[in-house]
Amino acid sequence: MTTTVRIGIIGAGLAGNWHANMFSATGQAKVVAAADVNLERATDLVQKHGAGHAFTDYRTMIETGGLDAVSIATSNDMHHPAALAALAAGLHVFCEKPLALTLAQAEEMTAAAHRAGVVHGVHFIHRTRPYAALAQRLVAGGHLGELTHIRAEYLQDWLLNPATQMPLSAKLWRTSKATAGSGVLGDLGAHLLDMLRAFQVDVTAVSARLRVVEALHPGQATAETTDDHATLLLECANGALVQLTASRVSVGHSNHIQLLVQGSQGALQVDNERLNEVQVCAGPLALERRTWYTLAAEERDKLPSPVESFVQAIAHGTPASPNFDDGLWVQRVLDAAERSAATGERVVVTG
Ligand SMILES: NC(=O)c1ccc[n+]([C@@H]2O[C@H](COP(=O)([O-])OP(=O)(O)OC[C@H]3O[C@@H](n4cnc5c(N)ncnc54)[C@H](O)[C@@H]3O)[C@@H](O)[C@H]2O)c1
Repeated sequence: MTTTVRIGIIGAGLAGNWHANMFSATGQAKVVAAADVNLERATDLVQKHGAGHAFTDYRTMIETGGLDAVSIATSNDMHHPAALAALAAGLHVFCEKPLALTLAQAEEMTAAAHRAGVVHGVHFIHRTRPYAALAQRLVAGGHLGELTHIRAEYLQDWLLNPATQMPLSAKLWRTSKATAGSGVLGDLGAHLLDMLRAFQVDVTAVSARLRVVEALHPGQATAETTDDHATLLLECANGALVQLTASRVSVGHSNHIQLLVQGSQGALQVDNERLNEVQVCAGPLALERRTWYTLAAEERDKLPSPVESFVQAIAHGTPASPNFDDGLWVQRVLDAAERSAATGERVVVTG
C-alpha cells in the first residue's frame, strides 16, 4: 500500500467538499479524483485539492482512478450502489450517513465490506466532538451509575427559514423518499442514534411518530415526501428510556444538538453550542446539593474524527470507528422507527 492514501470523492456537493478538506488535513491522504453527475462540481473540487481527475461516472473513477479508497458523499440513494462497486474493486470505503435507504441495503453493504476485508467508515461526526467524547468517558467510567433515561434532540430550521444556507438541490433530494429514504429521521435522527450507540446503549424497542408539514411542500405528493419532524420513544435493554426528537422545522435553531443523560448516581448535559464542555451533577455531595458543575474536555478526552480514524485504520490495518457495523445498528433502529410510525405500533428491534 502507498503511504499516502489516494482518495476518490463520490458526490462533490456540501459533504463531498467537507470530506475532501478533512482528508487533505490529515496529511496522510490525498484527494486524487472526484466523481459527480455535475462535472463542474467534480472539477471544482479536484482543482481545490491539486491536480486530480474529475469524472461524471463514479464507476469509471473506481476502475481507472488509481485509488486506495472512496469517500461517498452523494444523496442517500447512491450510497448502496457506490459502496458495492467500490468494495467489489477492493477499495476501502468511507460513507456518509445514513448508511443506506433501507435496512436490507445496509445489511448487504456491511456484509460486502466484511467479505472484502477492507477498512470501512461512516461519517458519524457528532460522536467524536469533544463534548461527546468526554460524555462517553463519564458514562463508560460509571460516573453516572446505571443509565435511567435520556433526552436527545437535534433541531434545525432549514425547511422553513428563508435565510438558510442549504442549496435548493440539497433540499430537494432530502424531501423525496426516492433519493433520501427517510427525512429528518435518517438525516439528523441517525446522528443521535449513533451518539446513543457510543454510550453503549442497546435499543430493544421503538415507538415513533413522524410528521410531514404539508404546507411546506407545495405541489409534492405527501406519500412521496419525507418526514420533517420525528419523535421516538426508545426502550433499552437495561430498562432505560430515551426520548429522541429530530426536526428540520424548529424555529430559532440552525443546527442544535442537546442531550440530557440521567443515571442512578449522576447526570450530564451537553450542547453542541458549547463544544468543549459537559455539565455534570455526579457524586454523593453533588446529588445531595443538586449541584451542577462544568467539566472542560481536555486533550486526553479527544477522539479522532471519523475521517482521521479511517485514514489511521488503513495505515495500521485496524478497524475504523465509527464503521459500517455502527451504520447498520443505526439503520436497524431507523427501520423499526419507520415501521412503528407506519402502523402506530411499538416495534421490537431485532438483529
Ligand atoms: N455527517 C454529516 O454531518 C453530514 C452533513 C451533511 C450531509 N451529510 C450527508 O452527505 C450526503 C450528501 O449530502 P449533501 O448535503 O452534501 O448533498 P448535496 O446535494 O450538496 O451533494 C450531493 C452531491 O451528490 C451528487 N450526486 C448525486 N447522484 C450522484 C451520482 N450517481 N454520482 C455522483 N454524484 C452524484 C450531486 O450532484 C451532488 O453534487 C448525504 O448522505 C447526507 O446525509 C452528512
